[in-house]
Amino acid sequence: ENIPLEMHKVRIVQKLNIMPIERRLEALKEAGFNNFLLKNRDVFMDMLTDSGVNAMSDKQMAAMMEADDSYAGSETFTKLETKVGEIFGKTLYLPAHQGRACENIIAQTFVNPGSTAIMNYHFTTTRSHIVRNGGTVEELLNEEGYQVNSECLFKGNMDIPKLRALISEKGAENISFVRFEAGTNLIGGQPFSLANLMEARKVCDEFGVMLILDASLLADNLYFIKVREEQCQDMSIREITRAIANQVDIIYFSARKLGCARGGGICTNNEEHFVKMRELVPLYEGFLTYGGMSVREMEAMAVGLEETMDEDMINQGPQFIAYMTEELQKKGVPVVTPAGGLGCHLNAMEFVKHIPQQDYPAGALAAALYLVSGVRGMERGTMSEERDDNGVEPFADMELLRLAMPRRVFTLSQVKYAVDRIAWLYENRNLIGGLKFVEEPKILRFFLGRLDTN
Ligand code: F0G
Repeated sequence: ENIPLEMHKVRIVQKLNIMPIERRLEALKEAGFNNFLLKNRDVFMDMLTDSGVNAMSDKQMAAMMEADDSYAGSETFTKLETKVGEIFGKTLYLPAHQGRACENIIAQTFVNPGSTAIMNYHFTTTRSHIVRNGGTVEELLNEEGYQVNSECLFKGNMDIPKLRALISEKGAENISFVRFEAGTNLIGGQPFSLANLMEARKVCDEFGVMLILDASLLADNLYFIKVREEQCQDMSIREITRAIANQVDIIYFSARKLGCARGGGICTNNEEHFVKMRELVPLYEGFLTYGGMSVREMEAMAVGLEETMDEDMINQGPQFIAYMTEELQKKGVPVVTPAGGLGCHLNAMEFVKHIPQQDYPAGALAAALYLVSGVRGMERGTMSEERDDNGVEPFADMELLRLAMPRRVFTLSQVKYAVDRIAWLYENRNLIGGLKFVEEPKILRFFLGRLDTN
């Protein structure tokens, strides 16, 4: 057995409850069959997300005690700005309260009506901001990325010939930017390779197009480059980080995932871009030396970024996810392979084959798993898509139930419990029926929408 080893010990704990199944059924109905609307007191293992729920280290907690509070010119901010510069080699840093706030600033600054943003794959909030600013999103994920099961180690890679072709077809002046998402979220936390990013950089240079990195899930991607990309095996995590950062013009990130804290930010070495984006920070986020974050968060983030350079820290998520994925595979449960970062992803299209896409198979599976186990995952399929202006609902490329693995939070026995319950549910999958919306918000409907069985 490939047992992952915790490279830390647990010194602060939080009590958990397992509610009786009768209460879970009530809770599910109260939540409109939407796991986002459940309350934590009704949840045993919260695998909804890895965002803002990772375990902090003793060093992060210690740093939070000496935070320097002030509206303007806080020493804590200077510390964070210096750390960002040191890690990424980009010295101009704009703080923001989380990842989507960075996306708002970037989209408002660089997306013109009618322009196209090209990316390996979209993320929900990223696309919404681009579309709200009049742009369109083109995804150029390589073919392997769309295969739920593949041998490809870098399913997050971009199709480079298509990138060149698309930019020439649209004209460079109509491209707002090219965006690479590390640890590609919606296709199962799949990485891109450094080699692929470098090829994209060459194409961007040919046409004079800006290249942006969404580094929210960079920790996982760094680990995969280190262990999967042959040319990088002798590089340190710090060197790989710099090599990635050197390829791109702008980096933004959600520190809720990277740095294991809260907050986020944008960094660059381009003075002109920096000044343009800077105007929006006091308007939407707060003054330039806090950007919507508390000083405690900024302290924890500076330490968390440094800890991300430690392979023993960033290997924890991927190794636990690989273990869970392999155990489920042994029991015949359909999962995304190779195992990625972020979480273990169940393939709902296979798991509940009898539920058609318009009845939200991944959403139905999410609700059913909560009911039988108290494990809360997140739908990543058609529910997470948005209707177009004519009310037509696009079907997602994949129907996934994401079981996020917050970093350094769950023990192996908890993971085994989840595996056991999922395997039971798989054997009894015919009990699961589809869902329909009874209240459907127009924007990002998966967060607040309410559903019912149909
Ligand atoms: N980019 C990526 C790749 C993300 O995964 C997220 C958040 C964001 C941007 C937005 O950052 O939440 O700080 O505003 N992903 C979370 C998730 C919400 O659960 O996957 P945020």
